[in-house]
Amino acid sequence: MESESVGIMSDKSKQFGEQYDANVYSSYRKDTPVELIEKIIDFLKEKVPEPLETAVDVGCGNGQSTVILAPYFKQVHGSDVSEAQIEQAKANRSLSNVTYAAGPAEKLPFCDGSVQLLTAATALHWFDLDTFLPEARRVLCVNGVMAVYGYLNMKPLFENPTRAKEVDELFDKYCKVLEPHHVMSKVSILQNRYKDVKFPFEEVNRCPDVRCCFEGKLPDVVNYVSTWSGYQNFKKVDNKGAEELLDYFRKRLYEIGATCSVSPEDSVTLYRDFQLILCRKTKDGSFAR
Ligand SMILES: C[S@@+](CC[C@H](N)C(=O)[O-])C[C@H]1O[C@@H](n2cnc3c(N)ncnc32)[C@H](O)[C@@H]1O
Repeated sequence: MESESVGIMSDKSKQFGEQYDANVYSSYRKDTPVELIEKIIDFLKEKVPEPLETAVDVGCGNGQSTVILAPYFKQVHGSDVSEAQIEQAKANRSLSNVTYAAGPAEKLPFCDGSVQLLTAATALHWFDLDTFLPEARRVLCVNGVMAVYGYLNMKPLFENPTRAKEVDELFDKYCKVLEPHHVMSKVSILQNRYKDVKFPFEEVNRCPDVRCCFEGKLPDVVNYVSTWSGYQNFKKVDNKGAEELLDYFRKRLYEIGATCSVSPEDSVTLYRDFQLILCRKTKDGSFAR
């Protein structure tokens, strides 16, 4: 790897090493839903014939968003600036056609036009977009696809509108306390549904929210909000304050659950609303508009 990228990497790796506890993240974040991946693959297959060759997952974290691509491609590569995340991915999500390496999204170790699918799962908001977006375009082949997706919340699906509103209010309150600890310039890109991002591709398909549900428990929701970088940052400066905030979140969520006869031990439907942007490069060279 060239010295410049090592420089970028050690800075960013340090930054993200501080923001993410790879173990906490790995245990409490749910896998990428298959239905979302199938939407992406269907879009790719509209213009790229099978068999599919190469996919790259940038900001792959512990590999959750990487291994899900393995059944569709001959070769899948996961890259992340955090060495701790890459170690987790290698240890826990190893498959014969999947490789992992630490590296910044802004400098990808691939030849021009060599990648058919590039995914960034709940990660784009962390990248330096002025550098990353042309780099993504460079590595993609003609008709190759960049799929950017992310979600902000994982909530219990309560049919009763009053209970649903109470859950929304609880999340709003939790977010408000964490606001000073979030890197807001980053998180707001995702909160604004990537609306402010100009994707340098001929085709840009901003899909309506994709709601993905699964069966879980209320403690899964508490664990999930504890993985937010804002919460982890708060914990570093005020461990007691952060624990009190999480205790409050837990107590209130369980109270709301109790009014629907859902206890922390019960199975309950949890949902995530994914924002998905599908970009296709239909011409060689840099993007001109
Ligand atoms: C919220 S996590 C998402 C992980 C994974 N894609 C998933 O869906 O579970 C964001 C990841 O982006 C990585 N990241 C942040 N900045 C990066 C950069 N400039 N280059 C590569 N990875 C980066 C972080 O280390 C972290 O693992």
